[in-house]
Amino acid sequence: MVARVIPVDCFDLVIFGATGDLARRKILPGLYRRWKEGQIPEGSQIVGAARSDLDADGFRELVRAALEEFLPKAELLPETVASFLGMLGYVTIDARGDAGWPELAGFMRAGMVRAFYFSVAPALFGDLAQRLKERGIADRDSRIVVEKPFGKNLSTARRLNESLASYFHEDQIYRIDHYLGKETVQNLMAVRFANILFEPLWNAQYIDHVQITVAETVGVGGRGEYYDTSGAIRDMVQNHMMQLLCLIAMEPPNCFEPDAMRDEKLKVIRALDPLAPAEVVRGQYRGKDGDDYLTEAGNPDSRTESFVAMKLHVSNWRWKGTPFYLRTGKRLRARTSEISVTFKEPPHSIFGESNQWRANMLVIRLQPDEGMDLRVMIKEPGPGGMRLKDVALDMSFAEALGDDLDIPDAYERLIMDVIRGNQTLFMRGDEVEAAWGWVDPVLEMMDERGDVPEPYEPGSTGPEGSMMLMHRDGRRWREIK
Ligand code: BG6
Repeated sequence: MVARVIPVDCFDLVIFGATGDLARRKILPGLYRRWKEGQIPEGSQIVGAARSDLDADGFRELVRAALEEFLPKAELLPETVASFLGMLGYVTIDARGDAGWPELAGFMRAGMVRAFYFSVAPALFGDLAQRLKERGIADRDSRIVVEKPFGKNLSTARRLNESLASYFHEDQIYRIDHYLGKETVQNLMAVRFANILFEPLWNAQYIDHVQITVAETVGVGGRGEYYDTSGAIRDMVQNHMMQLLCLIAMEPPNCFEPDAMRDEKLKVIRALDPLAPAEVVRGQYRGKDGDDYLTEAGNPDSRTESFVAMKLHVSNWRWKGTPFYLRTGKRLRARTSEISVTFKEPPHSIFGESNQWRANMLVIRLQPDEGMDLRVMIKEPGPGGMRLKDVALDMSFAEALGDDLDIPDAYERLIMDVIRGNQTLFMRGDEVEAAWGWVDPVLEMMDERGDVPEPYEPGSTGPEGSMMLMHRDGRRWREIK
């Protein structure tokens, strides 16, 4: 399937932290792919800015190596790579000092969209924002892009928001949650708001419960030290899982515009009940040597969770009575992210008690094997009376939309949205604060009760307590496979 590519305007994009992991792994390969697809106009410029003492050629070599490491060989067309590298510039910069700033100013051209990607530790956000503004490098139309972790709790998130707000307006700040850039996550909105089919049933009257699972097979690996100060609740729930929940639970906005969308998401977060202690289970993978969280984290006494399962209630007219179960963890049996919506059973069976009912279920697979599947009851073909059977109306996007379907990486979409000036898939400051406002008491509750995460086997489906969370309610998690 050939995707329609609409070129963006010519731009000057500065990547602070351009030699770092995120830039090499995601941002620069993502830009290369957009260049290859013809979405980036000739005359655009990408300037790397970092502490490393490199010249432009040194930076180009680093980028070439990153493309070779993180993109399939077939995508690296020599002429396209050469022209992409030709777009790059570099400046050695001191985020907290004076060095490099005049050179950076020299790169900026009049009449271009200007965007500044802060791919650096949040502690530097304020320093960068201040220098960009005070040195006249950024103007009223410039955009800045910031990454998670956006704070560690509500007060630090507020401070970050305030420090950015001292120099930039909210409509210039693009807070990335890369889950919103995933095609299949955007598809959630299409399924809900481009079809009449589901919306009338999309409420507590017809939906029994919702499950959101983001399971990973990887452990914390080399990120152990950082991760140990964070844990699954901060790393995944406060942002990615919360965004998925919002997209499932929100009211239809009146248009697909940034504030219309974000207003509705914010209302969901504000409608969340505080979490009761019995409604959260934390876990930690404990295995041998390299497979052990404590070893990887380098902290034998760590109480940080690598897994969490929780039961949430959205207290509004639409959802009162329908629980949302969230679970995410590392070193689990399989890598799978999906949302399943289990409908209630029909109120009365005309086919008699002997027939086995399976509730209708809509499963949206976010990754891998992106697709949707709707489980419905049918008559089992053949003799033997009216025997019912549940079957899946299963659609894999790759099959339905063609084998050469090329699902772009989340960063490709999001960076182009920055250049287009479209904030719909970015988080607003109040949204981030509201999410921390809900998460903070959960973390405090854990601290207060001196909670120790429950151990689970690497390669399993998580701790026993997570199963119990469901069993208590007469429900079960979908299998992680
Ligand atoms: C990141 C988390 O934001 O998302 C990581 O910090 C996690 O811990 C990652 O592994 C998951 O993203 P994806 O796109 O691989 O599902």
